[in-house]
Amino acid sequence: MAHYVPPEVYTNAFFEERLDTSDEWIRTRTGIRERRFAFNAGTSTLMKPAAEKAMERRGLGKDDIDIVICATVTPDHVFPSTACILQDALGLTNCWGFDISAACSGFLFALQTARSLVESGAANRILLCGGDRMSAIIDMKDRTTSVLFGDGAGAVIVEADENPGTVGIADSVLHIDGAGKRFLFQPAGGSVKPPSTDTVENREHYVKQDGKTVFKAAVVGMAEVTVDIMERNNLSADDVAWLVPHQANLRIIDATRERMGLDPKKVMINIDRLGNTTAGTIPICLSEWYEQGRLNKGDKLILSSFGAGYTWGSVYLQWELPKYES
Ligand code: COA
Repeated sequence: MAHYVPPEVYTNAFFEERLDTSDEWIRTRTGIRERRFAFNAGTSTLMKPAAEKAMERRGLGKDDIDIVICATVTPDHVFPSTACILQDALGLTNCWGFDISAACSGFLFALQTARSLVESGAANRILLCGGDRMSAIIDMKDRTTSVLFGDGAGAVIVEADENPGTVGIADSVLHIDGAGKRFLFQPAGGSVKPPSTDTVENREHYVKQDGKTVFKAAVVGMAEVTVDIMERNNLSADDVAWLVPHQANLRIIDATRERMGLDPKKVMINIDRLGNTTAGTIPICLSEWYEQGRLNKGDKLILSSFGAGYTWGSVYLQWELPKYES
């Protein structure tokens, strides 16, 4: 696995200079200090270096990938899929692929999809990218949303392990509830409200969020699904090496950790440095921890998310890669 974040760092001071906000408000309400923006990139541009690095680490060539899956809500275009664009950019010669739209849960939904395709025998090896260029759809004049997000992507190779006794991806619990759609969405640009002068003037192509309502739903949803997957698999907090939570708000992460009874040292956090990269948060966290040599073979990991839709879920997996050596 691997990840890519753009080099340009935007601290909270960037917003202090433009909006009625403060570093103190952003830090205490969200845990975010800075994020990365790539104002001139498409999402595929963020995914490409992550995918290249992941393939290189696994020693894969251009004809070794059977399927490309991209989880994103900021596709390069409405169509064709970002998977098609990425396949072309990478020069992959023998694959099919598609995009998955599940917002902040996109990586987990795509991981379960990839797992099912490999387990069914439909594919040997899947390139799965999760990432978003949120700077394309956040309203830089809206202090309630612009400060929350960042740009970035992660990439993983999903494949079967022939070794007997391998656990890998062990279980997943995923949910959707479209009753949440009006609390976090992009009003225009789809078929319900195609672009028009009015939609542009009304700034309807940007993320709109009822933060308080989403916050409450996220605290309950992410904690419940995480406890559910632990109970289904007879896991205690001591058994879990790492919680890998979606990074929307440090307080939502804390609520989940508390419900698990987990030591704070066992939680992967990068929201302080990267903000909410939507489908990118979980694979970027995993890749960072992997590169830092903090993941050991046999570690039990719980990946959890909550996002627009609503979409939410947890994946339980056992880390099967040897410790990373640069
Ligand atoms: N700077 C300063 N003040 C701000 C602000 C900012 N950037 N953004 C909002 N405010 C103001 C609000 O206007 C509100 O003012 P009011 O009371 O005069 O109306 C006040 O701060 C409190 O807003 P509130 O919504 O109660 O804050 P909060 O404690 O709920 O935190 C969020 C706001 C957005 C950080 C929080 O609701 C959240 O994280 N929501 C979920 C986000 C999320 O998970 N989204 C992605 C899906 S996973």
